Amino acid sequence: MKHSGIQRFTFVERVVHWVVGLSFLFLLLTGLAFSHPRLYWLTTFAGGGPTARWLHPWVGVAFSISFVAMFLIWLRDMRVDADDRAWLRAIRHYAVHDKAKVPPAGKYNAGQKMFFWTMTLLGVAYLVSGLPIWMPAGILGIGPFYGGVVNVMRLVHYLATIGGGLFLIVHVYLGTVAYPGTIGAMLHGRVTRAWAKMHHARWEG
Ligand code: HEM
Repeated sequence: MKHSGIQRFTFVERVVHWVVGLSFLFLLLTGLAFSHPRLYWLTTFAGGGPTARWLHPWVGVAFSISFVAMFLIWLRDMRVDADDRAWLRAIRHYAVHDKAKVPPAGKYNAGQKMFFWTMTLLGVAYLVSGLPIWMPAGILGIGPFYGGVVNVMRLVHYLATIGGGLFLIVHVYLGTVAYPGTIGAMLHGRVTRAWAKMHHARWEG
């Protein structure tokens, strides 16, 4: 099907974003399953307990690699400038849809940029804390990691997951039900001119 409007994301950007998104969902689901015996049944969706335990770190590797790709592709557009600081000062108006009081955004609004940077920090935290849990005997000459270190890393891994999970709920809500027309940008890559004007008036799409 041919979509009218303007291009927001290239094919490569969309594939990279969906590898990040789907791998993250898999990691959340299996991570949740490992977090409490009552949730262990969730491993059923990942081929059972041992398979889920084996898959989780490897999908983590796929998430990390695709995240680095997404980071590099979007880095230039995610720099925070004076317009973004003005937008952030008006965030309470954005939250209550009082559009007139919110400065016009560029390709991404400052909230989206904050999400990008927060997920980048959390991504580093998942990787740094995940490796010692996965390979307590050590990796690349670093380690071995003793029980105390692994336990601290496990706590960091859990706390980062709670943060990332909550941010993801907001992200999915804003990208789907809150703002109709947004999900199309990540599905077929295009948005209408009206959408661009309403949400990203300073963006020359
Ligand atoms: C799995 C469900 C997900 C859905 C439905 C979803 C949806 C979307 C949509 C529709 C956009 C485009 C927004 C726009 O055009 O302004 C977007 C952008 C983006 N997504 Fe996702 N996404 C998902 C998962 C993720 C995950 C897991 C991450 C990171 C770990 C992520 C990171 C981003 C970033 C950094 C952007 C660009 C900035 C932004 O729009 O916030 N997404 N996503």
